[in-house]
Amino acid sequence: MHSVLITGGAGFIGQNLVHAWRTARPDDRLTVIDAMTYAANVRSLELLIADRSIHFVRGDIRDAELIRRLFDEHRFTRVAHLAAESHVDRSIVDPEAFLQTNVLGTFTLLHAALDAWRASGVIDRARFLHVSTDEVYGSLEPNYSAFSESSPYRPNSPYAASKAAGDHLVRSYVSTYGMPALITNCSNNYGPYQHPEKLIPLMIIHALKGKPLPIYGDGSNVRDWLHVSDHCEALISVIEQGRIGETYNIGGGNERNNREVVRLICDTIDRAFAADRALAARFPSCPAASGTSCRTLISHVTDRPGHDHRYAIDATKLKTEIGNQCSVGFETGLLQTVRWYLDREDWWRDVISGAYQVWIDKNYGFRIEI
Ligand code: NAD
Ligand code: DAU
Repeated sequence: MHSVLITGGAGFIGQNLVHAWRTARPDDRLTVIDAMTYAANVRSLELLIADRSIHFVRGDIRDAELIRRLFDEHRFTRVAHLAAESHVDRSIVDPEAFLQTNVLGTFTLLHAALDAWRASGVIDRARFLHVSTDEVYGSLEPNYSAFSESSPYRPNSPYAASKAAGDHLVRSYVSTYGMPALITNCSNNYGPYQHPEKLIPLMIIHALKGKPLPIYGDGSNVRDWLHVSDHCEALISVIEQGRIGETYNIGGGNERNNREVVRLICDTIDRAFAADRALAARFPSCPAASGTSCRTLISHVTDRPGHDHRYAIDATKLKTEIGNQCSVGFETGLLQTVRWYLDREDWWRDVISGAYQVWIDKNYGFRIEI
């Protein structure tokens, strides 16, 4: 039994991880800390908070005093560190928040954990899992081999650079202080509770509202899509079975370019409307409501500066050392995800009100159709 701290537990992957952890390791005590930025949402955790299945703290990982107090109170022996600023486009518009949380926040948390574990003498059985991204490795040419754990770091966005800095800090704490830490670098996640500023939910919601589907540039950029349930399963396995000081890459084995992804979303929505006439009444602005394909909404807009062309993950180490393998195929996972957003209009309508609209104006206002 462990006392576990999950940082960023009100974010997309964090919420999914809290539920996955509760199911996989019901005896562990879970504490979630989250600063509740625009990206956070606790609705899926409300029942767990109410019945005290988890302890929720609204707080900032840069607050050293608070982190120290939490370690004193809860005697954590596991930390799953997911709190971050995570959106590449936002890092281009406003990089400072990324350095604050992804570098300084990671440093504060890491150092507080080391101090607490040394002082309480549990360092031999404690583990700190730093959740990072494949973006630290930069961009792959079409025919290059997928990223392995020994690929060089070549971050291209302020987000990727800040995550790379966090990874380097964690690595240095292992070498210098014997910190019992592990790092995972994963590819693009998708699934329930993803914030609608990221590609897949943005395109689903725009299609349902009959708004243009803004593909950056020619849409040939490739991502390796990983269902969030596969990712969470891998994280729980790595924190328990991984070797301290090691990095594990986690990928979905589902490489698709953005054009293919957006077309598949359109076709999936078209089919759902054809099979269920009630959807037309709920989403009358969606072209599928009148039998027209959502593909008619696709538009190509100004590209993202420094847009990485391709990411792909070689997850052999995870499979051979830990025995973990991703199982959700992209077509199946995307169908489930589209269904989830169709069923959970209450959730995303809430999320896209207010501050979200300000961001949409900022990120898409200057982009012209190409
Ligand atoms: P997210 O943006 O949905 O959630 C991040 C959470 O961190 C939010 O709830 C936010 O409120 C919280 N947070 C931000 N700053 C904080 C601070 N200073 N103190 C405490 N909490 C703070 O991100 P996500 O998609 O769930 O990603 C989780 C982690 O996984 C991140 O570290 C990200 O870099 C990494 N990752 C994500 C993906 C992906 O495709 N989503 C892929 C690879 C790696
Ligand atoms: O690879 C892992 C990374 O995946 C994570 O570390 C990040 O936290 C996560 O946000 C994600 O980064 P991306 O930049 O790849 O994800 P995003 O959903 O923003 O974009 C996916 C692709 O779609 C990318 O090539 C840019 C493109 N795109 C995105 C948006 C929002 C568009 O063409 N149009 C859009 O409107």
